[in-house]
Amino acid sequence: MAHSKLFTPLKVGALDLPNRIIMAPLTRSRTPDTIPGEMQQTYYGQRASAGLIISEATNISPTAVGYVYTPGMWNDEQEAGWKGVVEAVHAKGGHIAMQLWHVGRVSHEMVQPNGQQPVAPSALRGEGAQAFVEFEDGTAGRHDASTPRALETDEIPGLIEEYRQAAERAKRAGFDMVEVHAANAYLLQQFMATGSNQRTDQYGGSLENRARLPLEVVDAVVDVFGADRVGIRISPFIEIFGLKDDEAEEMAFYLAEQLDKRGLAYLHINEPDWAGGDIKLTDDFRQAMRQRFSKGAVIYCGHYTAERTEQAIEQGYADAAAFGRPFIANPDLPERFRLKAALNEPNPDTFYGGGAEGYIDYPFLEK
Ligand SMILES: Cc1cc2nc3c(=O)[nH]c(=O)nc-3n(C[C@H](O)[C@H](O)[C@H](O)COP(=O)(O)O)c2cc1C
Repeated sequence: MAHSKLFTPLKVGALDLPNRIIMAPLTRSRTPDTIPGEMQQTYYGQRASAGLIISEATNISPTAVGYVYTPGMWNDEQEAGWKGVVEAVHAKGGHIAMQLWHVGRVSHEMVQPNGQQPVAPSALRGEGAQAFVEFEDGTAGRHDASTPRALETDEIPGLIEEYRQAAERAKRAGFDMVEVHAANAYLLQQFMATGSNQRTDQYGGSLENRARLPLEVVDAVVDVFGADRVGIRISPFIEIFGLKDDEAEEMAFYLAEQLDKRGLAYLHINEPDWAGGDIKLTDDFRQAMRQRFSKGAVIYCGHYTAERTEQAIEQGYADAAAFGRPFIANPDLPERFRLKAALNEPNPDTFYGGGAEGYIDYPFLEK
């Protein structure tokens, strides 16, 4: 059977996507100076046939950083670098969203400005959380995260402002959309989860309070881009980096309703088992999310194949799927799906860091 649904056009907010094969956000750690350059233009340009590219997670400020060699969007040089990437994607007829990132407690003093403590909702280290740092001998590697300090209530407006300014830069650079990164146990999910948020101000305690920061961030970037050009990524039930949430389902339902009210372009759900582990979403949960977020598009990610995506669209809980590892190894993934051609295998050794190898040298199909 042909993949008929995958290649049915999809309206996502203000955009008309030619297919439902989204490129997932993928950190590749190849910008030692935090500025995307020619290699990034080539990499993203090669993948412009995706219905929508979501950029690698991009730090909104120096304090947002937890991993060296990842790009930023807080200064003019970074903005100019990203403009080049956007132009390369647009020149090939593609669409691209920027993923806005703050790691919160998944960081270390070595990668923070002036060696300061990373910030988080509460001063709680995430068990097993690791930053990616550069050691004194110039080599880089993983390192247990530092104990963070709790953000003061009066620092939160400034934090939201950093998101807004990064979105303004993304808009000037020509991005079609922005995606708020509220997944994978980073700052915004740390605020939402019961295990990492012990605040007693209006950003902690009740479910509504724990959802306040992510929603205020969404509202700030909606002010810049309009709701029809803003998406959000969440990963309910995920338990990486020591994240625990006793109210993961309630939080996901509440967020979906709130985001639906705002008319967000899309809700992007990363499956909790994408990096391993036993926790899986149920179809009941997925359908319940669809009911609550009914106006915008719903995108799923995590071990999706062409067949599984067809089924998900058929079942109605998803409109599209995002592909991570398959897009690393297959710049022409949509064409391969269309032809049911074999896929290149991704090489995990070259996922993070390094240069062109494993980045821009995966082969396209022979014509
Ligand atoms: C090398 C690598 C880098 C990733 N970087 C990000 C990222 O920057 N932001 C994010 O939200 N998820 C990130 N993820 C998760 C992917 O977006 C995706 O959810 C995951 O790979 C599951 O999809 P897949 O099974 O199609 O690969 C990354 C995954 C991999 C393998």
